[in-house]
Amino acid sequence: MASAPAKAILCGEHAVVYSSPAIAVPITQAKTSVRIQPWIQAPSGSVWIDAPDIHLSTARSDLPPTHPLSVLLNLIESDLRRGPLPAFRMKITSTIPVASGLGSGAAVSVAVLRAVYAFVSRPLPLERLNELAYQVEKIHHGTPSGIDNTVITYARPVFFQRGHPLQFLRIAQPFTLVLANSGQPSRTADVVADVRRAWQENPETYQDYFNQIASLVNRARAALETGDHTALGQLLDHNHALLQQIGVSSPILDTLTQAARQAGALGAKLSGAGRGGNLIALSQPERAPEIAAALTQAGAKNVFITTVEAVHE
Ligand code: PMV
Repeated sequence: MASAPAKAILCGEHAVVYSSPAIAVPITQAKTSVRIQPWIQAPSGSVWIDAPDIHLSTARSDLPPTHPLSVLLNLIESDLRRGPLPAFRMKITSTIPVASGLGSGAAVSVAVLRAVYAFVSRPLPLERLNELAYQVEKIHHGTPSGIDNTVITYARPVFFQRGHPLQFLRIAQPFTLVLANSGQPSRTADVVADVRRAWQENPETYQDYFNQIASLVNRARAALETGDHTALGQLLDHNHALLQQIGVSSPILDTLTQAARQAGALGAKLSGAGRGGNLIALSQPERAPEIAAALTQAGAKNVFITTVEAVHE
């Protein structure tokens, strides 16, 4: 059985596409798992896919070539350079809500890659796994920064900056996040493309937003390394305000982040692409149920409480 966790972007989204740093954490409470078994007597290259969470039960040959699983299996075959794969049956199960900014797509890619390479007994170092998962992200999302596949591959809190060596974060004290979905669907590729247009029209203004975000991400890193959650909460609020200015918040996200703050969150912001999708609220552990209830009351979906564990090495 291979698996991969969900993720949340703590701060720095969008600016990260323009080479500012960003921080993301794995959410180990939700994950995608993949189990593979040989498919006896089926011809090489045959794959039977069962993914009950998305009501999919099909042969690979019946999927359109643009389907994410077709893309992934073709990529694996070309990377392995050994012709068609031996026939197998693959069961994909996931507790990560789909299209919610929790990285469900990247988690499927990482878990399937792990499972198939193990099935054909080929080693897959984390660095190579991350590169392959990034190639899949690029096919689906246009110009992704690579932060999603990276945090999911390594399953550790990351300080990620395009074009710079990956850094793992020290987390001095565990912290509690309330995650919620706005219920408003949003496509990452569209929002990223809109930001690009706005940046092209107003390069100086947008560069200034990205610089301000870079500075707060560095301060958030220091707050995580010293366990200063009050400071971290303020930085998350500040990041949300900058994301509003960039134009990626929405009335629902603003209402929900405000509801979380009123219920006692140390800070709250949209997380991921925005215009809908996910939000996070940093909470003292004992306040989290109240914040979760306030978010549900204000209309949020898939609300859950999670702890990001301390990391000392
Ligand atoms: O929508 P999500 O959770 O996959 O996050 C997208 C994050 C962006 O910074 C907006 C895009 C990217 O590729 O980093």
